[in-house]
Amino acid sequence: MISQTLREARKYEEVSEKLIEPEMRPEFHLSPRVGWMNDPNGFSFYNGEYHLFYQYHPYDCHWGSMHWGHAVSKDLLHWTYLPAALAPDAPCDRGGCFSGSALTLPDGRQLLMYTGVIRKPQQNGELCELQTQCLAVGDGVDYEKYEGNPVLDERDLPEGASRFDFRDPKLWQAKDGTYRCVAGNCRTDGSGQILLFESEDAFHWRFKKVLLANDGRFGRMWECPDCFPLDGKQVILTSPKDMLAQGFEYPNGDGTLCLIGSYDEETDSFTEESNQSVDYGIDFYAPQTFLTPDGRRVMIGWMQNWSTCGQHRPTEEQRWFGQMSIPRELSIRNGRLYQKPIRELERMRRNEVRYDNVIVEGTVQLDGITGRKVDLEVEAEPEDAQRVYRKFAVRFARNERYQTSVSFRPYECVLKLDRKFSGSRKAILHQRRSKVPAPDGRIKLRLILDRFSVEIFVNDVEQVMSATIYTEQCADGIAFFADGRVRMNVVKYDLV
Ligand code: FRU
Repeated sequence: MISQTLREARKYEEVSEKLIEPEMRPEFHLSPRVGWMNDPNGFSFYNGEYHLFYQYHPYDCHWGSMHWGHAVSKDLLHWTYLPAALAPDAPCDRGGCFSGSALTLPDGRQLLMYTGVIRKPQQNGELCELQTQCLAVGDGVDYEKYEGNPVLDERDLPEGASRFDFRDPKLWQAKDGTYRCVAGNCRTDGSGQILLFESEDAFHWRFKKVLLANDGRFGRMWECPDCFPLDGKQVILTSPKDMLAQGFEYPNGDGTLCLIGSYDEETDSFTEESNQSVDYGIDFYAPQTFLTPDGRRVMIGWMQNWSTCGQHRPTEEQRWFGQMSIPRELSIRNGRLYQKPIRELERMRRNEVRYDNVIVEGTVQLDGITGRKVDLEVEAEPEDAQRVYRKFAVRFARNERYQTSVSFRPYECVLKLDRKFSGSRKAILHQRRSKVPAPDGRIKLRLILDRFSVEIFVNDVEQVMSATIYTEQCADGIAFFADGRVRMNVVKYDLV
């Protein structure tokens, strides 16, 4: 049975999406069918297709009463919208259906686990959000909420765990066929932690242990945890709120954290070996991963950030806000997380334009190298290895008025993304810097542009910087700049 609330949302999105011109959206990055989008949810492969759900408020371009939007794809790049999957229509989730994940049950149905939010008045009269974990089961289009909801609530929490910050369950099936899930939580003292739960049948859950505690190291509340094996290691991803900046590694505010270590299956214990940011740009949060049928661990994130998204007032005509990152294939090399744009993207490459051994000194523009939906690969090195250049930059989304740039200064080993001149009228964060240890000035950059964003993959995908841009589409110039002399190879494809 579909509730009135969900039926209305479905009707609304079907009518309103027609008011959005396809050219006014990203081409291959998923944006909401209409209205607002935040976190990716339920990223999965089900019945021969990739499914991606998302935090969704169809009725306007701001965060509001959370639904789950839904889209499917054959290649993770071309998405078809399906009707909204969940609406806040049950006693356990009237305050919103927050983030969660998906898996396929042995009987072939798809299971969604999400956070149900209800608002309860406290003794002092204030309204507080109570968060519990809930289930819905469906066929890939329609989902029925489980009559036993919630399946995890405050009674399942260990001592000192907040029932107000308890959300974002990420499910998986263990090797022995039983189920696990991790959820983000805050202790009553404000420090984030990840809780591990287990179940025999994916419907009856019990608390197992605190998998990892923040102990004040990385921000406060930890949102959207994920936990998976990769290349012989165990990876834990989470998105901490209220971070203190640490060097060039972690920014203030909302961050993304990747912990790499080992896992003892007997005791469900994680031992950390290293930590790093997931993305070094401005807009990336709440990533979620899944395993494709051909064995790739693929991650997608919300290409936005909470500190600045409230500042961008989308115009009345725009009718949508928020987009996903490009899906990224993960691997571990030299103890670090590597992220490569999904290989299916290469099938969208058209109109190759290539230049080898171009000498750049000052500003250089090259015939045929323009565009706002492009895949651009650049290799730069000093023309004379004894005389390393001072700065090298790629400037794009460019005309007389605008440009966005990525620049590298080998003496400082600092790569900088700058979107000051990208159509934003607000004094928000416009720059991020990252350490790239290449004092010899040899650097490789791959830029993926899709109308309203750039993702920069550095040195064979060792680091990524993502940012949204608001520059008008006619600003499609690309130029190269060097202070000093740089030898450069460049190849550009249109993404069609
Ligand atoms: C992360 C988050 C989640 C929550 C959702 C609500 O961006 O705050 O923790 O489930 O967004 O929309």
